Amino acid sequence: MVKLTSVRADQILDSRGNPTVETWVSGGPGEFRAQVPSGASTGKHEALELRDGGMEFGGKGVLRAVSNVNGAISETICGKEFSGLREIDSAMIMRDGTPNKSALGANAILGVSMAAARLISSENGSELFQFLSSFSGRDPVMPVPLLNIINGGVHAGGELAVQEFQIVPSGFVKFSDALRCASEIYQHLKTHLKKKFGPLAVNIGDEGGFAPPVSRTAEALDAITVAISEAGYSPGKEVYLAIDAAASEFYRNGKYRMDGMELEPAELSDHYLSLASKYPLVSIEDPFDEEAFDDFAAFRAAAGKRLQVIGDDLYATNTSRIRLGIEKKSTSAVLIKLNQIGTVSETVDSTLLAIGAGMNTVVSHRSGETADDFIADLAVGTGTGQIKTGAPARGERVVKYNRLLEIERKHPEIGFAGHSVFSR
Ligand code: PGA
Ligand code: ZN
Repeated sequence: MVKLTSVRADQILDSRGNPTVETWVSGGPGEFRAQVPSGASTGKHEALELRDGGMEFGGKGVLRAVSNVNGAISETICGKEFSGLREIDSAMIMRDGTPNKSALGANAILGVSMAAARLISSENGSELFQFLSSFSGRDPVMPVPLLNIINGGVHAGGELAVQEFQIVPSGFVKFSDALRCASEIYQHLKTHLKKKFGPLAVNIGDEGGFAPPVSRTAEALDAITVAISEAGYSPGKEVYLAIDAAASEFYRNGKYRMDGMELEPAELSDHYLSLASKYPLVSIEDPFDEEAFDDFAAFRAAAGKRLQVIGDDLYATNTSRIRLGIEKKSTSAVLIKLNQIGTVSETVDSTLLAIGAGMNTVVSHRSGETADDFIADLAVGTGTGQIKTGAPARGERVVKYNRLLEIERKHPEIGFAGHSVFSR
């Protein structure tokens, strides 16, 4: 049984300088904190992030969400006995009473859920990932990181349509070696971009990746391929490439504007496949608009086993949308974001649903982040085998990678997922 004696929240800033919610919960073992992230290329089907409107912070204040924690949520869960995290989450979901958490705000509910998970794991005398492992019934696994080292789309001020260009150092035995490889490539990419395009080319975007003055997808992939070689690695051996197209952001009136073209879905599919034949791409996220279940399915069929196809905005970590994707065979993987759905229990439900259907899962940060490292434990504990949390740079990104290093150091028995996650 678990009893929370106090639940409170404050307004703090995220990595983009916008307000977000920080939550504290107290109970038996002490006081525990969580900080809530926020997206920019948010999916239409995400749970509602409650913002104040008005003049302060350009309307982005979260004081209403904060007061929902201090008022309604505190009233609902403080001083009562709950059998566990799921019951706490259910009580908040009931109190909210809407399908998308629009009454209290997903940003209000999520912080409490995350902080409560920390409290319960401490009460059990376990680390957060160990609690999440028993909560999900999954064995812990050190995840392959997908590191976003060139930022485009709405995460940067450049002309690249594709939002994220990632390196995937999957050909290692340990997470720490994979991260070292990524860091070396990141530094070589910096040198290469500076030499080729001048010092302005190494300005960075929201997730810590560079935002060079290139406009074509292939140019970004070329630059990364050079950096991989210059760092002494072989593209397609120890390290692979991945992209998050976030295609809803460049979709207008049935066409996708990308690489100087206006493409129909079938043409865009061919374009991706031709990129995949020239570069060692292993994964493509959100290749089409967030409603295009059928275009995803056609692309997945055409790509076969060569490419992992991930749904992010398509699913918004929502079980009913994931069920539709399973039925239509739309993707081979699901992106998992806590704040798209708004509680830890529902996030785990989505993960288990996807895994049960034979899909891969990838735990993800948001472009607006905080120093909270919850997702590192979530990825390990639910054994997803993959995590994406930005470049190996900037505090709010590296805090997650550093927590993963710590878990691996303290628990060398937990194996690294490695490249076999892509052949499942
Ligand atoms: P977002 O980007 O947090 O801005 O939505 C991350 C993603 O699209 O995966
Ligand atoms: Zn995405």
